[in-house]
Parts: sequence; structure tokens; C-alpha cells
Amino acid sequence: MEHAELAQELVNDFRDQHRKICAMLIKLEGSLKAKNVRDAREILGKINNMSGPHIRFEEECFYPELKRIMGDYIDRFYMENDMLIHTVRSFFSLLEKGTLTDQEVFQSVDAVRMLLVHVCNSEGLLVLCEMLEKKVIERLTEKSDACKKDGVPMLKWADTMREVRRVA
Ligand SMILES: [Fe+2]
Repeated sequence: MEHAELAQELVNDFRDQHRKICAMLIKLEGSLKAKNVRDAREILGKINNMSGPHIRFEEECFYPELKRIMGDYIDRFYMENDMLIHTVRSFFSLLEKGTLTDQEVFQSVDAVRMLLVHVCNSEGLLVLCEMLEKKVIERLTEKSDACKKDGVPMLKWADTMREVRRVA
């Protein structure tokens, strides 16, 4: 496959994952607003499952490649992933309860919106994808497929496989 075509394929797939995650986040926002805890819990489970291979690919392969172009500016994306993991984890414990207060709805809807911003920011990195060398894109495609095949949910990955980044 040609360089441009390969890059396009990777971009399309990655974008499609973002699109699906955004759609789920918007659904989650709706169920939180409706205080439908059961639906919210189910949607959160799907988000956790879908985001696992995605975030794993980002941190284990995509960001390290981009770091060669962007330097330490890529670190903000790792920090945003910290927030994503933290938020999903706290949603799981919040939704163990049967009901939500107005205050909890307000705060959790706000947190979902922050996650939406994160996904949109992450989308912006795709512009750099086609600027990577062909062999790098091939490697990224392979890794992305492998992450999808493994299908490790996000929190499980974060708890057992994620590389710990030490605070200076
Ligand atoms: Fe992403």
C-alpha cells in the first residue's frame, strides 16, 4: 500500500474510534441528566471496553512516535489520559449507588464534557500522522490491530499494564 493510503487508513480507523467514544459520552451525558443510573452504568462499561485498546495504542505506540516531533508537548496528552482514567474510575464508584443527587448530576455531566474535549484534542494529533515515515505508519497499524485484538478494558490496562510515569 502507498504511504498516503496507509496513513489514511490509520487515520480513518483512529477517527472512527474517537467518533464512537464521543457518541457514547453523549449518551452517557443523557442518561446522567435523566438520572438513569442503570443505563449510565451500562454505557460506562462500554466506554471502558472501547477506550482500552485505543488509549493503550496511544500511549504504547502513537505518543512515543509523536514525541519525536512534538517533544515534551506530547506529555499533556498523557495527563489528559490520567484524567480520563480517573474520571471513568470515579464514575464506576458513583454509579454503584442507586440514585444521583442534582449536585452529582451537575458534576458528572461537567466531567463528561471535559472528556469530550479530551477526545477532540486527541483527534487533532491525527494531522501529524501522515507526516510519519511509511515504516512507522506500518508499525503503528500493526500495534493498533494488536491492541484491538487483545481488547483489554481501559481500567484493567491502567491497573495492570500502563507504564508508570514518575513525577519529578
Ligand atoms: Fe484518542
